[in-house]
Amino acid sequence: MKIGVIGTGYVGLVTGACLADLGHVVVCMDKDTRRVKLLKKGEIPFYEPGLSETVKRSVKGQRLFFTSKLEEVILDAEVIFIAVGTPPKANGEADVSAVIDVAEGIAKVLKKNHSKSSKSELGYKVIVNKSTVPVGMGDIVTDILKKRGIPEKKFAVVSNPEFLKEGSAVSDFMHPDRIVVGASNNRAFNLLSELYRPLNAHIIFTSIKSAELIKYASNAFLATRISFMNEIANICEKVGSDVVEVAEGMGLDKRIGKAFLNAGIGYGGSCFPKDVVALLHLAQSHGYDSRILEAANQANEEQWKIFVEKVEATLGGADGKRIAVLGLSFKPETDDTREAPSIKIIKRLIDLGAEITAYDPVVKKVVGLKLRMAANPYDAVKGKQAVIMVTEWNEFKQLDLERVKSLLKEPVVIDGRNIYSPVKMRNLGFTYVSVGRS
Ligand code: UDX
Repeated sequence: MKIGVIGTGYVGLVTGACLADLGHVVVCMDKDTRRVKLLKKGEIPFYEPGLSETVKRSVKGQRLFFTSKLEEVILDAEVIFIAVGTPPKANGEADVSAVIDVAEGIAKVLKKNHSKSSKSELGYKVIVNKSTVPVGMGDIVTDILKKRGIPEKKFAVVSNPEFLKEGSAVSDFMHPDRIVVGASNNRAFNLLSELYRPLNAHIIFTSIKSAELIKYASNAFLATRISFMNEIANICEKVGSDVVEVAEGMGLDKRIGKAFLNAGIGYGGSCFPKDVVALLHLAQSHGYDSRILEAANQANEEQWKIFVEKVEATLGGADGKRIAVLGLSFKPETDDTREAPSIKIIKRLIDLGAEITAYDPVVKKVVGLKLRMAANPYDAVKGKQAVIMVTEWNEFKQLDLERVKSLLKEPVVIDGRNIYSPVKMRNLGFTYVSVGRS
């Protein structure tokens, strides 16, 4: 099939590259001409395992193309994906102006072509919203096209939310738990079913509004689950239980399941924090106050602060302390530091007077933070009064801990991700503080 993808950010690029890998012919468009130039050379603007190979393979196979011109995406494509950002406004509401601009752009191109020759038949187009948008956006995009005079029988707007996780996005795309298609007619649904047929995945067909809410509800549920476990961890510390054991015991109940029960320093990234707040806002704008979402968000805002307090309590204050921080990205296998708890923790420690040296396997600088970057974890810990672990990269799980101990000025490890065994750390002679394991 001929596909167009508008937006080559995280979701758009992974979607475009993976659809091309499935054998479709895909044109990806971005208004950022510099980015398009890089992509044409096979250079990926962010770190995502497996993506570069997927892009290069499809570019070479002439199934994946990049452009900065909207016309080149729209005219031939049977399915057009909108995959532009919906960042939070100051009040938490999702800013959908980029989606609206793209919809206007599509409408303009279609209109121009439709009216050029009344004889030439404008092909049927399915416009798929992949961006995370408030419920009702599908109707707004439909209205934009209708207002421009595009006949209703010539197009359908579909919601097909993306559930990929940074760090495993390519594999998530290729092996989805489910594909959600929100459409108002069978023709559009059948086209999307055909598009995803090579994945042999479970596809569910819903209304557009349900599909839009499935995305927000899924992310908000997972975020709530993490906040819940972080609270259980805080309770564990008070009562003397171990949250890792508690999570294991809970997760074996099939109704609960094992995933996303890891307590830590709070969720970050470009989705959970913004989507919880956006859903809260959406509910409020319809006259409903969600107490659970409010609490999940508040608990998350507290969790990194509790960790900083732990650092202060362990070191007898942070002022003048030299501290190594291992990990900067909001989770392993990505270079993304958006809403990363690491950044909030480091900022606060610097404000409290600490001197920070950081190391991350892929993040090599953080704009606006006064910290030293080390070339490897051992250089980072050398001569420091403590090391704090904020991202659970595999590299950190395999550290030579004897060497770490010999390099540290004081053998103090404060672990925000429960990477190590408390017993092992104590036997090695560390003062070891973690989350929810008193
Ligand atoms: C998330 C959703 O998982 C994905 O389906 C959606 O499409 C986009 O948002 P992502 O933000 O890439 O994906 O990462 P994810 O692995 O979900 O982690 C989000 C945050 O939760 C990270 O900060 C992570 O450290 C934290 N987390 C995750 C925990 O603290 N504990 C857990 O058990 C799991």
